[in-house]
Amino acid sequence: MRHLLSLEQLTRDEILRLLDTAQALRPQALGRSAHRPLRGLTVANLFFEPSTRTRASFQLAAERLGADVLNFEAESSSTRKGETLTDTLRNLEAMGASLFVVRHAHSSVPASLAAAALPGSSVISAGDGRHSHPTQGLLDMLTIRQRKGEDFSRLSVAIVGDIRHSRVARSDAQALRTLGVKDLRLAAPATLLPDPDEPCFAAAQVVDSLDAALQGCDVVMSLRLQRERMDEGLVASLEEYYRDWGLSPERLTLARPDAIVMHPGPMNRGVEIADAVADGPQSVILEQVSNGVAARMAVLEHLAGG
Ligand code: CP
Repeated sequence: MRHLLSLEQLTRDEILRLLDTAQALRPQALGRSAHRPLRGLTVANLFFEPSTRTRASFQLAAERLGADVLNFEAESSSTRKGETLTDTLRNLEAMGASLFVVRHAHSSVPASLAAAALPGSSVISAGDGRHSHPTQGLLDMLTIRQRKGEDFSRLSVAIVGDIRHSRVARSDAQALRTLGVKDLRLAAPATLLPDPDEPCFAAAQVVDSLDAALQGCDVVMSLRLQRERMDEGLVASLEEYYRDWGLSPERLTLARPDAIVMHPGPMNRGVEIADAVADGPQSVILEQVSNGVAARMAVLEHLAGG
């Protein structure tokens, strides 16, 4: 593995190896170790879209592995004067950066930079367009495995909300399928469903209501309504959206009593998820965030040859 652009590229064994590494790195992810395998390396965070969790956790992950971190400020960079992203990459490589964490609104950008990178450099997608958010997929699998055990094949998983615009849904669906989930349900208003022939959702079952998706499921993955990616009125109103598709405490009773509730963040509280669910006893949303540091440490360590 030289770059991490999508979870589609990983086998089951490769995903499990990354999850095992992340699990082993959890104490260090919380800052409790002096192990520094990335000392002497520089990780460049190139974020061309806003981020709280991914950017901060990549920074912490790199620092806790001993790397130097360069947080590239897109808004005040020379890309604003017309410098290409490839030239930006080459200049940062010339300063010694070799691990590039890239978030961009366009799906192809991390792959283009990977193609242009020096042989010793690695590119990680930190979320590109609707295409992929591979480290989110890994941290979600780590969270599910911690709560539900090793055997994914017996799990019923519901992905609900704005699936059409969600790179998280695509990466999660790829990983869940690779790890053996057979019962994967998708539920969204018709305007927010993905293309029916997208390969990552090929084994999933589209159901016509949130209630049908939740019935007896073990894992509920709620997704953010991504209004910034909508160029047309795909949702009538936020009130109607919550009424029909919002994850309320009453609806959650349809899932198994020990079902876990996940959300990649940031949440639109009162739109796709109720406060009482987001902050309730079945929520593992902040465990996902903690696991993000460990999962990203595992990816950085593997790409650096650890
Ligand atoms: N889940 C996620 O990607 O969150 P951020 O946009 O805050 O990084």
